Amino acid sequence: MQETSTNGVATGTTHAKVIVLGEHSVVYGNPAIAFPVHSLQLHAEARLGGTGLNVVTPFHEPREEREETLALERQLSETAVTNTLEFLGVRPTGIEVSVTGMIPPARGLGSSAAVAGAIAQAVARVYGRELTRDERFELVQSVERVAHGTPSGLDAYATTEQGPIWFERGVAKPLRVLSQPRLLVADTGIVGHTSEAVRRVRELRESSRSAVDALLDEAAQLAADAGHDLATGDLVALGLKMNRNHAILSELGVSADPLETLVSASRQAGALGAKLTGGGLGGCMVALVDSEAAEQSVSEAMLAAGAKHVWPVHKEIA
Ligand code: PMV
Repeated sequence: MQETSTNGVATGTTHAKVIVLGEHSVVYGNPAIAFPVHSLQLHAEARLGGTGLNVVTPFHEPREEREETLALERQLSETAVTNTLEFLGVRPTGIEVSVTGMIPPARGLGSSAAVAGAIAQAVARVYGRELTRDERFELVQSVERVAHGTPSGLDAYATTEQGPIWFERGVAKPLRVLSQPRLLVADTGIVGHTSEAVRRVRELRESSRSAVDALLDEAAQLAADAGHDLATGDLVALGLKMNRNHAILSELGVSADPLETLVSASRQAGALGAKLTGGGLGGCMVALVDSEAAEQSVSEAMLAAGAKHVWPVHKEIA
């Protein structure tokens, strides 16, 4: 996250995130691995002036997103401003906050955390305050609770940290990787439902405790072993673990037909591994490829299979 502060105007920048292993299982205290998606950034600008609270985000201009998603994004943005002002103990007569850039909301890319993180930092900076990592985390979490009820905290870190993270039991640590893996994120174009998916897994666990715990334990082991694969650059092994993680998430009931279609298309086109990413029941999937040629053919295959967008995780696009 980079920020600037000059004369009553300040900015904050965050990015999307992609979970490569461990979503849902992370809710039960297991580890997860997430990478920043620097090609999808958000910039918040806070400006003191005017009267009252005036928040403008890209999501306030309804285009292709569902009305309820847009209403939630609006609520989140305003909550981020008011919670940050409350934390700072200030009551401005007027503040204008605008967010530019675009992370598609409700796709498992951490949009709500990224919006909250960028706004919190911009608002704090406009008062000359630099939030600590912990303060920023707590503010983002306070907003995430509006969106997800009981967020694990993964998104709050992953949308602000500059490199890949290992996240476990509320703590994020930088993850050592031998080289940046070639990851592609593809959007089904269908809104995901994180809180609904988290609820489904919890209910399934209540009715089938030992079977679900076995799946969650296996996902935890996959994440732990994948950390080793990334450290040693064993991408073939990593891809196999992503495939198995996807099967587990399907068994947990959080996949959806459009996700299955893109996962299959990417594997057939040569992906080393592919899985849904984030909450599921829609949203995005992530594929691992091993060359520029594979990146091209897998991207084309996913677009031909119905993906609305494909973003490279490993490339920084200004
Ligand atoms: O859909 P997202 O980007 O909010 O990711 C959710 C990840 C979960 O593990 C399903 C929930 C969580 O709080 O970690």
